[in-house]
Amino acid sequence: MNLRAMKTEDLAEVKRIQGHVTRHEVPQPWMDMLAKHVDNEYRLGFVAEKDGSLAGFILGEIKIGHFGTDLSGWLELVGVEPGEMGAGVGAALAEKLFATLAERGVANIYTTVRWDSGDMLAFFKKLGFDRSNFINLRLVK
Ligand SMILES: CC(C)(COP(=O)(O)OP(=O)(O)OC[C@H]1O[C@@H](n2cnc3c(N)ncnc32)[C@H](O)[C@@H]1OP(=O)(O)O)[C@@H](O)C(=O)NCCC(=O)NCCS
Repeated sequence: MNLRAMKTEDLAEVKRIQGHVTRHEVPQPWMDMLAKHVDNEYRLGFVAEKDGSLAGFILGEIKIGHFGTDLSGWLELVGVEPGEMGAGVGAALAEKLFATLAERGVANIYTTVRWDSGDMLAFFKKLGFDRSNFINLRLVK
């Protein structure tokens, strides 16, 4: 498996994976968001290549001064081609993101997950995530 920064040429394959994971048509605004994770200092994107095609992708972000933190790293989205799940691709992508964030001096890494998404929670716990000091709020008016 080869882990590397996402390039513009990868976007169509990442779209394919996202479509398989969500089982929905991938909307153009999602693709516009994805493109912003190529060659960007703060919006990071990595892909895992296996046998000449992409097996997964991960998106992250470096935030400065948000939510009362000086410098923080965020794991924002991770997706693995369904036929490749359970073979270490997601964990390898996460470690690539964590290593890059560490190189950039980021000591605190966060993510967020639905409380009832048991598989994602298990995945994040396995990576070493635990409850943070934040709580998420949603405007309800
Ligand atoms: C979750 C996901 C990223 C994990 O990637 P993966 O390559 O399948 O996972 P890995 O093989 O690297 O698993 C690493 C560890 O995570 C845990 N894990 C992964 N998938 C899991 C699942 N479905 N249920 C429970 N634990 C799971 C396991 O502990 C595993 O370690 P083990 O194999 O030693 O037991 C992938 O399955 C996926 O893309 N799922 C859908 C993603 C999604 O809904 N994304 C939207 C929100 S970000």
